[in-house]
Amino acid sequence: MIDSGLRDRAGRHVTLRPVDDDNWRAVADVAPRDDQRDWVAALAARYLLLSMRSEVWTSVAVYADDTVVGHVMWGVDDDGSRWLGGMVVDASEQGRGVGRAAVRTLTDWLAAQDGHQPIRLSYHPDNVSAATLYGSLGFTPTGATADDELVAELTLS
Ligand SMILES: CC(C)(COP(=O)(O)OP(=O)(O)OC[C@H]1O[C@@H](n2cnc3c(N)ncnc32)[C@H](O)[C@@H]1OP(=O)(O)O)[C@@H](O)C(=O)NCCC(=O)NCCS
Repeated sequence: MIDSGLRDRAGRHVTLRPVDDDNWRAVADVAPRDDQRDWVAALAARYLLLSMRSEVWTSVAVYADDTVVGHVMWGVDDDGSRWLGGMVVDASEQGRGVGRAAVRTLTDWLAAQDGHQPIRLSYHPDNVSAATLYGSLGFTPTGATADDELVAELTLS
């Protein structure tokens, strides 16, 4: 379990846990709002498949207390940089502080692995929620793009 001790606005304890035999169905069913489907997959199932098929990505389940509320995945690029991807909070759980706690929990954990490596992610230019969230956590656009998305980076030291 990855745990920074963070809570959402309702006081629920937000943690990141491995995808396992018990929770994979709930993680696969995590879905964004319909109007967010232009920017992310319609179901987290697609990210789970990507993690299974790729040696780069590892999916984790986002929990609020003991309920699966989202999906996020992390990876290490050839240059050693850490990447965060597939961040989706289920539509029914958005706006409660889960996304902020989940991203901070993962970046804290990645930084503890190797604080000298930047942490990168990308988001669609029209995705205001994502841009605002990541910007408020210290990510700054690098100027690079990946698949029509803006790449942003958190430099730790
Ligand atoms: C982006 C996302 C992960 C945020 O998760 P969340 O749990 O709803 O976010 P939080 O409640 O923790 O809010 C965190 C910040 O996000 C931003 N945010 C959230 N909803 C927003 C909205 N409707 N408009 C603008 N900013 C918003 C705010 O900066 C907010 O800051 P605050 O904590 O000061 O309120 C979630 O909206 C989501 O899953 N979206 C669909 C998938 C997606 O776009 N993922 C990112 C791909 S790069």
